[in-house]
Amino acid sequence: MTTVGFIGSGNLGITVARLAIEAGHQVVLSNSRGPETLADTAAELGPQASAATSREAAAAGDLIVVTVPVKAFPNLPAAALAGKTVIDTCNYGVERDGHILELDGTSLTSSELLLRYLPGATLVKAFNNIFFKHLLSLARPAGAPDRSYLPIAGDSAAAKAAATEFLDSIGYGVVDAGPLADSWRQEAGTPVWGTPYGPYSNELGQPVGADAIRAALATARR
Ligand SMILES: NC(=O)c1ccc[n+]([C@@H]2O[C@H](COP(=O)([O-])OP(=O)(O)OC[C@H]3O[C@@H](n4cnc5c(N)ncnc54)[C@H](OP(=O)(O)O)[C@@H]3O)[C@@H](O)[C@H]2O)c1
Repeated sequence: MTTVGFIGSGNLGITVARLAIEAGHQVVLSNSRGPETLADTAAELGPQASAATSREAAAAGDLIVVTVPVKAFPNLPAAALAGKTVIDTCNYGVERDGHILELDGTSLTSSELLLRYLPGATLVKAFNNIFFKHLLSLARPAGAPDRSYLPIAGDSAAAKAAATEFLDSIGYGVVDAGPLADSWRQEAGTPVWGTPYGPYSNELGQPVGADAIRAALATARR
């Protein structure tokens, strides 16, 4: 059993939290407005869930999920996240985030930008390529023939192992997509982003095996 701290508790964060609770983990939720705004959500999720400030969620988690708009990166609790393994689910989108100079070129991935704001954390990019409703409905136990896979990227083998164990526990296999510098291969608009799991209009999604994820990563172009 792991305590998972959530920095951001919106559509994607709450979905990961739900799956984590089903797998027997504890979750500590946080957002930008304060724990009182998450009290109803935590109550609905049950006794394995609690709400806290983002600093407290960062301190409490054995594993952290940062799942916020990219424009919020400068406001994250960097000191409390130092020394932590952090899963980064975030996608850069100009419509929501405005233009962020470093991300408008091809020299930096959004995960590398996050690392600049969280220099003491060890990042693994995961979950960013799947629609939250598909994530909820496609979770399957290890060994299921229709298990789905997600790409993960990161620079630390130990952090990737921790992320792999967590994803496995909540219903997903992983494909290693390389270091953070290569995580552009799974960023918004790439072949592995959204499409393999089916259209948003079908909320159930469709299972995607490891080979299809590897093939989609390989065809990404910058
Ligand atoms: N939705 C999807 O299907 C999906 C799938 C894959 C990846 N993603 C990516 O994952 C990230 C989250 O997506 P989402 O759909 O869950 O967004 P969302 O529903 O808009 O939720 C964003 C969450 O971030 C919180 N937040 C914002 N600034 C914060 C800060 N400084 N400190 C702590 N929390 C903060 C918000 O809290 P407040 O409401 O209190 O501001 C909210 O709980 C995005 O980067 C998105 O691109 C989304």
